[in-house]
Amino acid sequence: MEMAWPYEMCSIIGYRGPGVASETIVRGLKKMEYRGYDSVGIATLSGELIQIRKGVGRVSDVNASMKLDTLPGRVGIGHTRWATHGGVTAANAHPHCSSSGRLSIVHNGIIDNYLEIKERLMEKGYYFKSQTDSEVIANLLQMNYDLTGDVKDAMLKTVSELAGTYAFIAMFHNGILAAARYNEPLIVGVGKDCHFISSDVLGFVSQVSDAVFLRDGEIAILDSDLSLYDFEGNPVQQTVIKLAKNLLAVEKGEYAHFTLKEIFEQPSTIVGTDQGGPEFDMLSLYLKHAKNLYITGSGTSYNAALVGSYLLRKYASIRAEPLVASETPFLPLHFDRQSVLLALSQSGESADVLKAVNIATKGGARIVSIVNVPTSTLVRESSVSIGLNCGPEIGVAATKSFTSQLSTLYRLAEKLSSDADFRDFDKIPQSISEILFSSFEIRKIAHELRNVSDIYVLGRGIHYPIAIEGALKIKEITYIHAEGISGGELKHGPLAMMHDGVYAILINPGDSTFVDTLAGANEIKARGAKIIGISDKPNLIYDRWIKIPSVPEVFYPLVEVVPFQLLAYYAAVERNADPDYPRNLAKCVTVK
Ligand code: G6P
Repeated sequence: MEMAWPYEMCSIIGYRGPGVASETIVRGLKKMEYRGYDSVGIATLSGELIQIRKGVGRVSDVNASMKLDTLPGRVGIGHTRWATHGGVTAANAHPHCSSSGRLSIVHNGIIDNYLEIKERLMEKGYYFKSQTDSEVIANLLQMNYDLTGDVKDAMLKTVSELAGTYAFIAMFHNGILAAARYNEPLIVGVGKDCHFISSDVLGFVSQVSDAVFLRDGEIAILDSDLSLYDFEGNPVQQTVIKLAKNLLAVEKGEYAHFTLKEIFEQPSTIVGTDQGGPEFDMLSLYLKHAKNLYITGSGTSYNAALVGSYLLRKYASIRAEPLVASETPFLPLHFDRQSVLLALSQSGESADVLKAVNIATKGGARIVSIVNVPTSTLVRESSVSIGLNCGPEIGVAATKSFTSQLSTLYRLAEKLSSDADFRDFDKIPQSISEILFSSFEIRKIAHELRNVSDIYVLGRGIHYPIAIEGALKIKEITYIHAEGISGGELKHGPLAMMHDGVYAILINPGDSTFVDTLAGANEIKARGAKIIGISDKPNLIYDRWIKIPSVPEVFYPLVEVVPFQLLAYYAAVERNADPDYPRNLAKCVTVK
């Protein structure tokens, strides 16, 4: 049976202006590389001729071999495609042309009813060159354009026939770009004499600083001007937003990888979060008065939610139920007008988080959030949002955004507590710097781990979320199997896995969990596994000791996560894996 690759994570970009479109688009695609992809392509219009070049691999490699940036023309569209399963081929890469070649499209999302549309179009003589769902948009739009003779009418008719999620851009042979948004991000960049349209502001922020964010159910038409319509065809007012300058800070500088740079930025980024402003005060009030409070996120952001739940319970006596965002549709949750959902997200675009927000909103709950990307969908869907302000995070594995999420949660717990004394927070940047300073020691241990196939990470109490996060970092970028385990659970199963060649990393600072965590160490050692202790105190039982500074118990998560980030980074480098772009992962997962 013919299959479409149903899970695509893509970046799309369109340009119309006085510059050479292909050069501008390739530059934009490179800036969006962090989102993850496996193939790339562009189409430009020269005269009335649409030319397409596309191939499998990195933007730079495909560009070097196919000279994408030499295509002529001042209007163009580009795409990076990311497939989690199914074939990665040049034919499946975008852009896709309609059968007549008079328009081409790039698409991000999933067209659920593509088979039915495809059959209908094939009966009418349209043909298809790829196995993607996206190609139906090109032919459907072409058919509707031939029927109506008008770009706007053709777009309205097309979106009324599509089911699924999408952001797509179409380039017509007359030079008009048209785009539609439905549950995938899409932003127009507005310059003096040019327009961009893209999935991510990074696609154009180095060229223009004004942006118009499309909402779901809107169409943009870029002629010499920008026009916006809703899916009924009514004009929509345009709100122009000035983009923050710090979005430009996306160079690696002297660092070998963005991931390393972002790890080293943490002493300064953890103190840059929004706090003390009106949003912070309002968000605190919502948390305080919520009858049911849920705290959600995906991946690393969920691990931050676990720490947040602990802090709010312990210091502010607020029960905040942690919720894996993707589980929201399947759990018996209670969302009503007295409920609050606190959503954590670096990107503010994770589909699972937005789905949780959607479900909670329908139940009447209030949405509040902590987000890094201020222009994201999540921020717009929240009653109030606090910014992480840690600058763009390019490495796919979240590092600095995690510690900034934690630092915001500490500030919230402190504000909501009557007696927590968090003054020592000010010393944490220095403690992180000390670990970074000794990164060469961690590098030696990473070298030892390069050929290991199983790592177990143990932690109790407030350290348990870091055990999960530490294991996630190792899995994500080194591809070594790693599991985070609550220290006491060792004897309920994982002990069976302890033998020669296995490594156990114990998160074991000298606090209330110390003695209990150490007890497990003897049992591990007796079975031949090696032990790495992350602690402020040495112990003979550790085969390797990663020294961390002593800090008050509550702050250990911020400090002890850093050795995991460094271990994972260096082990990835030792294994010749690219830490910035791990296999099968994307920075921003905008599909279910
Ligand atoms: C993806 C990324 C993870 C990230 C997660 C949540 O899985 O690879 O690094 O933690 O999404 O992303 P968010 O932007 O919502 O924090």
